[in-house]
Amino acid sequence: MARDAVPPAGSPPAGVPPDLAATLAASGQAHLTAHAATLDAATRASFLEEVGRVPWDRVARAFASPPAPTPPDLRPPEALTARRQANEAGLVARLTDLGHRLLGAGKVAAVLLAGGQGSRLGFAGPKGTFVLGPEADRSLYAILLERVAAAGRRASRPVPLVVLVSRDTEEATRAHLEGIRFGGLDPALVRLVRQGELPALDADGRALLAARGRLALAPDGHGGLVDACQRAGVFDWLADLGVEALTTFQVDNALGRPLDPVFLGWMLDRHATIVGKAVRKANPGEKVGVYGRGLVGRVRILEYSELPEGGAPDLVLGSIAVHAFSLPWLRRLLAEPGFMLPWHRATKKVACLGPDGTVATPATPNATKLEQFLFDLLPLAPRVAVHEVERAREFAPVKNATGDDSPETARALVAAEIARWHRAAGRPVPERPSLLPLEADGPDDLR
Ligand code: UD1
Repeated sequence: MARDAVPPAGSPPAGVPPDLAATLAASGQAHLTAHAATLDAATRASFLEEVGRVPWDRVARAFASPPAPTPPDLRPPEALTARRQANEAGLVARLTDLGHRLLGAGKVAAVLLAGGQGSRLGFAGPKGTFVLGPEADRSLYAILLERVAAAGRRASRPVPLVVLVSRDTEEATRAHLEGIRFGGLDPALVRLVRQGELPALDADGRALLAARGRLALAPDGHGGLVDACQRAGVFDWLADLGVEALTTFQVDNALGRPLDPVFLGWMLDRHATIVGKAVRKANPGEKVGVYGRGLVGRVRILEYSELPEGGAPDLVLGSIAVHAFSLPWLRRLLAEPGFMLPWHRATKKVACLGPDGTVATPATPNATKLEQFLFDLLPLAPRVAVHEVERAREFAPVKNATGDDSPETARALVAAEIARWHRAAGRPVPERPSLLPLEADGPDDLR
């Protein structure tokens, strides 16, 4: 076609590759092609690059897939607690030994979920860089990485660590981890993996724009870990290192303990595909996912934001989002053709470009965000065990700026735990026991 010829009807505007325009048209996103045509050449190029990276077929499938119904008659699954089974002589020692054997053989890797936006805390940087104190090097990342390093030292086998980050958190996380010298971990055994992003959609499933030439993108949920690790070859890397169990924990729990030997021990003892940690809910309205099992079904976690009207007062086992997954099982699952975790939709207020050309945050929710949750792997697993742990020792969430689950409550919980370690070692408790560094992962036998 001559350069100045009029394009035939239906062909994309100049500068938009025909195959991309066809993909957009097929997935109900033709408005993006039209928008591209209104941009100057440089902005259009970067916009098209961004648009070209989105898996539009996946977005269309996710938007079209109805939310999964909650199975009826859920009740709390039977939970394993070392204390309740204290009458089984030697149980804790046996589990601890099994867990130490896994760690000592280099069969465990930790995965820190840190790709979220952490908007409730009102802190601008990645949540892991939040300084819990009292010293400026006591960030959540420092506390959690040091604990992973301590578990590796104790097992005489360093534990590889994967940190799930997103576009918003990757760069600052990398710089921070270098600044804290990876909390004592070998940098060669730490991999940052960037999770995917998906566009926020309007009520008709059309992608919203954050500005002219820019999509309104949001992380695809921590379930995005599986795709991101697969794409980046991280599961292969871990398998080559001899890893058989991945234990995941969240950056917003200052007492997150993914390498607890008893917890890992249950995995071998119960031949479990997944073990999840649980605590008794503090109150029926607490914002935690809950464990449930149907009369015939498998164990699952229901997210608090998706519980039926009135909550689920009988489901008293809350999830602290620490799980151990069998890596060989996970890799087999991923190899199944068409495997995809289910999609969850959250309706949110998202600032976007309006028809008048200005960007505004609406007064009412205007956007659907699509997310996958890692814990949706539970009902797919042949054998799930739930390990109930002591709340005060393992759950110090940093979610809100003040009040419940805030830095203040988390700091007090960390201090109390460290005081326990001192007492268990027969040492006097220092006046400011939250003065870390953590020398060890804490004794195993306090529970
Ligand atoms: C989460 C759990 C909830 C659990 C509670 C315990 C989910 C959906 N819910 O709730 O079941 O009882 O913690 O404290 O996880 N993240 C990513 N990528 C994302 C989104 C989140 O890595 O795309 C990470 C965050 O960085 C954070 C964690 O996942 O470490 C949880 O994120 P958030 O969405 O704040 O979960 P909660 O609502 O607190």
